[in-house]
Amino acid sequence: MTSTHTGDVDIATLTDEVIRSFDGTPNVRTKAIVTALVRHLHNFVREIEPSLPEWETAIEFLTAVGKKCDPVRQEFVLLSDVLGVSMLVETINDQQAPGATDSTVLGPFHMTESPARQLGDTIDEVGAPQHLLVTGTVRSTQGEPLPHATVDVWQCNEEGFYDVQQPDLQPAGNGRGLFTTDQQGRFWFRTVTPSHYPIPTDGPVGELLHATGRHPYRPAHIHFIAAAPQHRPLTTHIFMPGSPYLDSDAVFAVKHSLVGDMGTADAEHAAQFGVEIGSPLATVDLVLAPAAPGGTDAP
Ligand code: BEZ
Ligand code: FE
Repeated sequence: MTSTHTGDVDIATLTDEVIRSFDGTPNVRTKAIVTALVRHLHNFVREIEPSLPEWETAIEFLTAVGKKCDPVRQEFVLLSDVLGVSMLVETINDQQAPGATDSTVLGPFHMTESPARQLGDTIDEVGAPQHLLVTGTVRSTQGEPLPHATVDVWQCNEEGFYDVQQPDLQPAGNGRGLFTTDQQGRFWFRTVTPSHYPIPTDGPVGELLHATGRHPYRPAHIHFIAAAPQHRPLTTHIFMPGSPYLDSDAVFAVKHSLVGDMGTADAEHAAQFGVEIGSPLATVDLVLAPAAPGGTDAP
C-alpha cells in the first residue's frame, strides 16, 4: 500500500509512533510484549487492508467470544486452540528432557476439580456396561518410580460428552478422578472408552470453523496431569489408537508418541485388577522431567 498522509496521521510512521508511546514502560518484558503486539498487529492490518465493516465484524467476533465465556465455557481458550496457538505455546514451554513424556494442550474442560479416588476405582459414575482398565506408572527420566505422585484424569463419555456439557445426564465428576500413585509409582483405574468428539461449535469459534470449511473433531483421548515434587508437572493425553481424526485434530494436539498402547486384560490382570480376561486395557507410562533448578514449576 502506498504511504498516505491524512491530517496529522502518517500511516508510514504511525507504527513507530505507537511503539514509542510505550517507551516509558517500566517492566522490560511488558514493553517487549506490547511493542511486538503493535508491530505484528499493524503489519496484519497493512496486509489485510480491512474495510470498516470488516473491522467492525472483527470487533463483533471478539466481543462474541468474550460473551460466550462463563465458569464452564472458555471460548478464548477454544479460539487459541483452533488457531494452533495453544499448541504453539505448549510446545515452546515444553522444555523436553530426554525420555520425558510429551505434553499436549490442557483444553477447556479442566475447569472443575476432579474428585479424589482410590486406586482401582472407576471414574464412570453412570454404570456403563463395558469398562476399560487403565494401568500405568509415573516415573522420572532416570527410570525411578515416583510414589505419591498425583494423577489427575478427565475424559468424555462413550458418546463424546464431558460431564460439564451434560449436567442433566452426567453427575458432576463423572469421567474425572484424582489418583495418587502407590509405593511403586503405579496407578490404575477403570473407565469407559472415550469417543472422538466435536469441540463446542455453538459459539463464534464454531462459526469460524463453519465459515472456513473446517471440521470440529478431536480424536478420542484421555487427559492427564501428573505431578510430583521436584519434577515438572506434565499435562498430556493418551489418544486411542485407530480413532478417527488422529491425522486432523481440530486443535492440532496429536503427537504420535501419545497414541496409546492398547491391549486386552490377561489372566494376571484379571487376578490383580478384578477385571474380566479379554476386557480392554490401556497402559500409560508418564515420565516427568526434573524441575528446573531453583524453578517454580514443581508443586
Ligand atoms: C479437549 O481435549 O478437552 C479440548 C481441547 C481443545 C479444545 C476443545 C476440547
Ligand atoms: Fe478432551
